[in-house]
Amino acid sequence: MCGIVGIIGKNPATPLLLECLKRLEYRGYDSAGIAILEQGQIDRYRAEGKIVHLQTLVEKSNPQGTVGIGHTRWATHGVPSVRNAHPHATDLVAVVHNGIIENFRELREMLEKKGHIFTSETDTEVIAHLATEYLNQGESAKTATQKTLQQLHGAFALALLFKDKPDTIFCARRGSPLAIGLGEGEMFIGSDALALAPLTQKICYLEEGDWAEIGKTTFTVYDETNQSVTRPIKQTALTGAMIGKGDYKHFMLKEILEQPAVMGDVLHAYSNPHTMDFAFPEFPLPFEAIASLRIIACGTSYYAGLTAQYWIEKYARIPVTVDIASEFRYRKPPLPKNGVALFISQSGETADTLAALQYAKDQGQTIIGMVNVPESSIARLSDVVLETHAGPEIGVASTKAFTAQLMVLACLSLHLAGKRSLIKEDEKKDLFQALLAIPEAMNQLLLEESPFIQCSNFLLDARDVIYMGRGTSFSIAMEGALKLKELSYIHAEGYAAGEMKHGPIALIDEKVPVIVVAPSDSLYEKTASNVEEVIARKGQVVFIGDKDGIHPFKDKAAITLEMPKIHAFTAPLLYALPMQMIAYHTATLKGTDVDQPRNLAKSVTVE
Ligand code: F6R
Repeated sequence: MCGIVGIIGKNPATPLLLECLKRLEYRGYDSAGIAILEQGQIDRYRAEGKIVHLQTLVEKSNPQGTVGIGHTRWATHGVPSVRNAHPHATDLVAVVHNGIIENFRELREMLEKKGHIFTSETDTEVIAHLATEYLNQGESAKTATQKTLQQLHGAFALALLFKDKPDTIFCARRGSPLAIGLGEGEMFIGSDALALAPLTQKICYLEEGDWAEIGKTTFTVYDETNQSVTRPIKQTALTGAMIGKGDYKHFMLKEILEQPAVMGDVLHAYSNPHTMDFAFPEFPLPFEAIASLRIIACGTSYYAGLTAQYWIEKYARIPVTVDIASEFRYRKPPLPKNGVALFISQSGETADTLAALQYAKDQGQTIIGMVNVPESSIARLSDVVLETHAGPEIGVASTKAFTAQLMVLACLSLHLAGKRSLIKEDEKKDLFQALLAIPEAMNQLLLEESPFIQCSNFLLDARDVIYMGRGTSFSIAMEGALKLKELSYIHAEGYAAGEMKHGPIALIDEKVPVIVVAPSDSLYEKTASNVEEVIARKGQVVFIGDKDGIHPFKDKAAITLEMPKIHAFTAPLLYALPMQMIAYHTATLKGTDVDQPRNLAKSVTVE
């Protein structure tokens, strides 16, 4: 999703802005631009497509100004084009903006009547014109900013640069995150701390409704009532080196291969391998008092929630409902007194998940936030934060963050079961052992790429692909389908194996590959029967199971993919990997943009 950077410093701002923008590329974007204050005027450079295009453009002019703002745009209002790329500007003011100005039409109409001429289709441009209108009325840059903010409705973050206030950048946060970075004699702003990591590790996060006036050495934050407030300055652990791609061709591949290590980190964070105990933060409610749990998330994080539903209901005997945040928030469901709601989000900034969280909070629910970004908005609004410890995830398609979520959720299920005295010591040890076996099993599986490449070659010419699984493999099947469609643009759907005969089986013919997720668990036989039904209708099966599981299908399936033997409890963690690898290789074979698939954004900060 759109990214914002800003620099007010001592060195030419352009190279630093471009570097920060590159670090925001992972969020997904379709155009980029910068505005630099140079010799008393605002110079803008904007380009469609990748940042290299912007870089080529800027290099021709080589601007030397030390103050500037930059932006990566993910189109909302108006197609991706130079005209619609940020910064938007008048002669006096330039603005970069993330989010949506809901009342931009009224504002634009009002400003056009006053003679303002608009050059883009964006909602953002009204901000520059509105601020200019206030300047024209004789207001200072600060008051113009304040009055402009008062007029804007919606969820956004923005930064403003004024031609006649060369020593200051103004910025604001309402619904979208924004961080101020503190340097030595220079200051920075960024949509996230990751963008600023090479420049500084001293970060001040604006809180909801805040706006700020930033100079070279000082900054002042104001809250929504325009009172000056102090916000803590945090030392982030992020460094510039952390998001290098190393020798890997894509971030996604790097992140897939990091999973064995990430699993180890999560296990360390939430358990003691010696005592086989789990270590979770204290919940405000006693575990026995948790009558039900609502899990709310989007996309891949939602599939982690669906998997956890099976685990928590089975082991901790707590009824669990799982909702897609973008629907939950509009349903306005009645929520139980003393209810607990768990929000799962890699970024911790997903707009729909945040809005659902706010609703649950307003309904008096205890909020658990499971996030990969500890400084994120969801983390800050939660009563209990469960970090997923996957490290920065740059590939737009979630991989290691998903399995990290699964690992935390698996540990949580057993932890709750233990706290509620619902699990015998022997069973707990058995399941704990199964969790400990995951990093090694993942390692073993990832050693050999060719089986995945064979599957991908098989899918290359497909128009539609069906994924199916039962129990905890159902959510993994849906995750597999999501990965394939978002990366390779092949249409794919995940179905519960038992549902096939209620409709989807009509789709089966010799042209439709069917990917079966079938670990050797108590549901294996039933899934195997469904596979027979598919084969009887000439469906082309890719059967994924362990040695015993694939045996009956060696001659019947188009492809069998052998998985290491694994405990049924932890199968989703391991079986998520072929989903990722098959999608990854299909995309690379098709030549699509693996790390930044078309139309997608890493952090979805609009509704
Ligand atoms: C798919 C993917 C998305 C995200 C979804 C939620 O690979 O990454 O479906 O899972 O946009 O994002 P978070 O987890 O950041 O709330």
